[in-house]
Amino acid sequence: MWLSFQGFCLVLLLCLMSLRDVEAQFPRACTTPEVLQTRMCCPLWNGSPCGFSSGRGVCAPHPARDLPKPVDYRVNWPRVFYDSVCTCWGNYDGFDCGQCLPGWRGPQCLQRYHVERKEITDLTDSERETFLSNLHQAKQSPSSRYMILTSNDTTVDGNYAFHNTSVYDLYVWMHYYSAKSYAGSESNAAHRGPAFLFWHRMFLLFIEREIRELTGNQDFYIPYWDWTRTNHCNICTNKYFGGVGQDGRIDSASLFRKWKTICPFQESLGIICIHTDASAPAYLIRNPGKDPIYNTLPTTGDVEDTMATPLFDTPPFDKTSRNSFRNKLEGFEMPDDSRHLNASMHNLVHRYLNGTMSLVPTAANDPIFMLHHSFIDKLLERWLQDHGEATYPDSDQVPPAQRAQAYMAPFLPLRTNNYYWGRDTNSLGYSYREHSLPRSGAGHNVTRHAEEFLKEPSAGGVQWQWPVLGVFSVVLLCVSVGAAIKCKGKRQQTQDAPTEEKESEFDYRSNSLYAVWAKERNGTIDKSSSTHVASCGAHPHDAAPRSLSEGRGDGVDSAVNVEIDL
Ligand SMILES: *[C@@H]1O[C@H](CO)[C@@H](O)[C@H](O)[C@H]1NC(C)=O
Ligand SMILES: *[C@@H]1O[C@H](CO)[C@@H](O)[C@H](O)[C@H]1NC(C)=O
Ligand SMILES: *[C@@H]1O[C@H](CO)[C@@H](O)[C@H](O)[C@H]1NC(C)=O
Ligand SMILES: *[C@@H]1O[C@H](CO)[C@@H](O)[C@H](O)[C@H]1NC(C)=O
Ligand SMILES: *[C@@H]1O[C@H](CO)[C@@H](O)[C@H](O)[C@H]1NC(C)=O
Repeated sequence: MWLSFQGFCLVLLLCLMSLRDVEAQFPRACTTPEVLQTRMCCPLWNGSPCGFSSGRGVCAPHPARDLPKPVDYRVNWPRVFYDSVCTCWGNYDGFDCGQCLPGWRGPQCLQRYHVERKEITDLTDSERETFLSNLHQAKQSPSSRYMILTSNDTTVDGNYAFHNTSVYDLYVWMHYYSAKSYAGSESNAAHRGPAFLFWHRMFLLFIEREIRELTGNQDFYIPYWDWTRTNHCNICTNKYFGGVGQDGRIDSASLFRKWKTICPFQESLGIICIHTDASAPAYLIRNPGKDPIYNTLPTTGDVEDTMATPLFDTPPFDKTSRNSFRNKLEGFEMPDDSRHLNASMHNLVHRYLNGTMSLVPTAANDPIFMLHHSFIDKLLERWLQDHGEATYPDSDQVPPAQRAQAYMAPFLPLRTNNYYWGRDTNSLGYSYREHSLPRSGAGHNVTRHAEEFLKEPSAGGVQWQWPVLGVFSVVLLCVSVGAAIKCKGKRQQTQDAPTEEKESEFDYRSNSLYAVWAKERNGTIDKSSSTHVASCGAHPHDAAPRSLSEGRGDGVDSAVNVEIDL
């Protein structure tokens, strides 16, 4: 029925097929029309809402419901969807209070529980195989408890739909939903601000618990990848996450070869995952070290410089903050000895991998993402241990979604951005085991590729391209140029956008993922009669420009929002 309906309307076909593969963190029970109408997300546990009659929690209104309506409905989570949600008591947790808080287990959640996250290369063969196969199972298993949201315009209340997803893709979607800048703003819920580190801590705890429940492997944990121990992607091998070929595809002997990404392309502001086309899957791409601007991993020196920063975060609490531990660790503020780089620490590792990992907000499609963030979380923990006196910033300059008392989107039950401050990893049921090999006393002996590159800029600048991309890239480039010409008229609309946005747009349109997608898309559209809806980014704003200027209407809204500067 469903499929034959798609056959009638190619526009709908595009949208529906694209929606099929994507997902959001909404409890399945809270996505029915009835629940959305009553605005109460209080699923039953053991027969009563929020397990109330079992003493687990209560359905209660939350403060965000009283906040004014923002331009983008994702701000003030979960205001636009629900007035009441579960508040869990004791050690109970979960959207229906049916789970235990991290660090607790048992029927009453009264037993302590602890895992040690190890460095990935310290895992035994059997630990590693179990870890990778648990991940693979999560990628393939439908999430029975959650659905994901897609939307073609997040400035219009009620303009969304829910879809089934796998457990792993739920996690990818959650990152997308909160990492994508809000319409009318340059900020998002999870990056470029003080919530960055805590949002990702919660995110890893969430997927860890989901995978434990799915696989029954209660010892599942996310190892970390200490990239200061290496000068290349030492886990980009078939033993770990797959070797990579010249075209950036994962080696055919790796189980990650067949992993398809969801929401794989950068979409315009206000769009959440409507461009996934099930008939044109985008696979994982990695080209570690191939971008001459970002061909080095951060060093121990960079880490120590970051760790020595005394203030957690500083005004204006965004990517321009100076002397901010958060901004150094995130990688917008350069450590002392890497001023020649345009990204450092967290951002640099994303950029270094040059592919799926370098495109925010879809980077979590690559399983290396969680190991990278596990290491970032380890550094956060070390800094917090050393700075017991620090506090979460309490300032009106903090972007609204990242203020101390705002709720982290899209998590249930609700958690404020400062919730994890003062809860160390031990209280959350985990700690980090140091690498089994101590560092040599002489310190760290990894050379920076970038320094070598800078000595011979002319050679390095030209040589990488052809060997890396090969004939494949010629085809993609042509497609890309074709798409660019086709879109020229529309792009002129964005000419008033800030320079940074335009540069990003250029990067975006010339990246190979986009080109493949544009080709597929143009192919489909040429066959359809509805070019207006779907061409050049399928931005509904293009067809019917609307003012979003209630917010910081500075032209950002009309620009294609690509956010590849992590
Ligand atoms: C956007 O989504 C809504 C429902 O979610 C739908 O009615 C509308 O047709 C869509 N618009 C476009 C341009 O796809
Ligand atoms: C989504 O999943 C639910 C439960 O797993 C199932 O009942 C439903 O048919 C699925 N819907 C679609 C469109 O596949
Ligand atoms: C990969 O590196 C190339 C070469 O510098 C760059 O043009 C491209 O934008 C990078 N791709 C991604 C996805 O970062
Ligand atoms: C790196 O940053 C410098 C200074 O901001 C800028 O001039 C240069 O164009 C940037 N390079 C790249 C490749 O983004
Ligand atoms: C660093 O490595 C180089 C070459 O591998 C070696 O010659 C040098 O002695 C090492 N330095 C330290 C401090 O270990």
